[in-house]
Amino acid sequence: MAKRVAVIGAGVSGLASIKSCLEEGLEPTCFERSSDIGGLWRFTEYVEKGRASIYNSVFMNSSKEMSCFSDFPMPDHFPNYLHNTKFLEYLRLYAKRFDLLKYIRFKTAVISVEKTKDHSATGQWKVATQSDDKQESFVFDAVMVCIGHQIEAYIPPAECFPGFEKFKGKYLHSQNYKNPEGFQGKTVVIIGMGNSAADIAVELCRKAKKVVLSSRGGSWVMSRVFDNGYPWDVILHTRFKNLLLNLLPLDIVRWMVEKKMNEWFNHENYGLVPQNRLLLKEPVFNDHLPSHIICGDVTVKPNVKGFTETSALYDDGTVEENVDVVIFATGYSTIFPFLDESVIKVEENRAPLYKHVFPPHLEKPTLAVIGLIQPLGPIMPTSELQARWATRVFKGQSVLPSESTMVADTSKRNEKRVKWFGTSRSQSIQTEFIGYLDELATGVGAKPNLIMLLLKDPKLALTVFFGPCTPFQFRLMGPGKWAGARQAILTQTERILKPTKTRIVANSLGYTMVSLLKILGLLVLLAAIFLSFGRH
Ligand SMILES: Cc1cc2nc3c(=O)[nH]c(=O)nc-3n(C[C@H](O)[C@H](O)[C@H](O)COP(=O)(O)OP(=O)(O)OC[C@H]3O[C@@H](n4cnc5c(N)ncnc54)[C@H](O)[C@@H]3O)c2cc1C
Ligand SMILES: *[C@@H]1O[C@H](CO)[C@@H](O)[C@H](O)[C@H]1NC(C)=O
Repeated sequence: MAKRVAVIGAGVSGLASIKSCLEEGLEPTCFERSSDIGGLWRFTEYVEKGRASIYNSVFMNSSKEMSCFSDFPMPDHFPNYLHNTKFLEYLRLYAKRFDLLKYIRFKTAVISVEKTKDHSATGQWKVATQSDDKQESFVFDAVMVCIGHQIEAYIPPAECFPGFEKFKGKYLHSQNYKNPEGFQGKTVVIIGMGNSAADIAVELCRKAKKVVLSSRGGSWVMSRVFDNGYPWDVILHTRFKNLLLNLLPLDIVRWMVEKKMNEWFNHENYGLVPQNRLLLKEPVFNDHLPSHIICGDVTVKPNVKGFTETSALYDDGTVEENVDVVIFATGYSTIFPFLDESVIKVEENRAPLYKHVFPPHLEKPTLAVIGLIQPLGPIMPTSELQARWATRVFKGQSVLPSESTMVADTSKRNEKRVKWFGTSRSQSIQTEFIGYLDELATGVGAKPNLIMLLLKDPKLALTVFFGPCTPFQFRLMGPGKWAGARQAILTQTERILKPTKTRIVANSLGYTMVSLLKILGLLVLLAAIFLSFGRH
């Protein structure tokens, strides 16, 4: 009999989990508390309890070729960075293509997940749900928790802002920010320096009287438009660069990062430079922020150390008078409202999970957390590989090491995270990208074998190594192999160019000239090497 799996949540991670269950011959039932799929990516005018919420203008910060599922490339006419509505459209296409909707029970919230009486023998879970006024309970062989980590808004505790209780203006968390209506003529202080803080500042400064970004930590700000106009992630996330990154000493990497980040504008002169330059903090993606700073629409200030009835006091002793609104873009807290602490205990906003997926101390590996991660790249292929690995583990086709090995690995991983990304709350589940994907893929048995590829299909191997590490790479071999993967990889550049190259000029001579020059250069180089060998 096929194992029954409860999937909690129907966002990116939930959809990938249902699909992975089906691929492995497991029987999924997905519970989604809202009335539709998409999770965070389904914009609504009002915040819904228990579901992540975004503002109207959210565009993705990762590009379409990198942010799709591994066996379902985005339509070639889709832009490279999608508006939230467009990404939701993609999720709908995906659900339809693989017929996922019929496994989802909408308007059904999971309210508790407990071990059954004979759990130590069977690994089964009792899952209790609530829909309208009806409560039900079911027994499942395994559970995939896919609730995201942007449900519970986090505002720093009162002691961080003495006097805040006296502040007479309005305040809200970025989760409740929807659009710039109502901010006309206001003085707004935004606390935080992540993607949301920067987006909101840029959007509000057109309407508000004054917009201030207050940040303790600062941040690198990057453009979505990277080298030669390609999306940043298809340039930076290649296996070749990843190899270099792992071979070079961390100090050199930091120096290179800093140099690259300051090419666009000097972050120190714009008040944005990260406080702790020793760390590889996740950048903010915003094409407009520096231009608003140089035009004086947005001012960057240090941390707010306190409030009066009408003003904000900054660390540097300066004061912001007549503040109308304070927006806390201060992130989220990780919560598992339906799980007992004996199953997962969140500490310092982090759940100690083996490879960010499995609680290490369970009797049987039958509960997995999918999507509780912040990779330096898109979440879609990451969640998907987590789900593919987890379902293989449920089936016993991939075996976890002993508890002590898992605990040791988890703390070692955390030490590495602190060394790379620091102890800041916003980086508590940060991880690298390609290295982590490969690790998961190894668990699945789907990591591309480059040597074998090079022998069999050199053209493909070179694209896999030097080109962007697109999700299709994890469908070339092993369980879950997809016959379309090769073609998807070889046509990815076409799909990147299609939506922007909408005015094509015939006989582009420039290109042939450049190619000729390149070949000429190569010949000169070869000749030089040949001659210098000849001399010895
Ligand atoms: C402003 C913003 C921009 C972002 N941009 C990007 C980007 O460009 N690229 C990227 O890779 N990532 C981005 N992210 C990260 C984002 O978290 C992921 O893209 C993705 O949405 C995570 O999907 P998920 O399924 O894990 O969680 P969610 O999308 O949050 O989905 C969780 C689902 O679980 C449901 N649920 C919760 N609790 C229960 C319960 N008890 N019972 C039943 N159902 C429940 C919710 O209703 C929801 O539908 C962004 C995040 C934010 C906030
Ligand atoms: C994109 O933005 C979201 C929201 O700020 C963030 O969680 C995610 O890590 C960002 N992705 C990258 C690759 O920076």
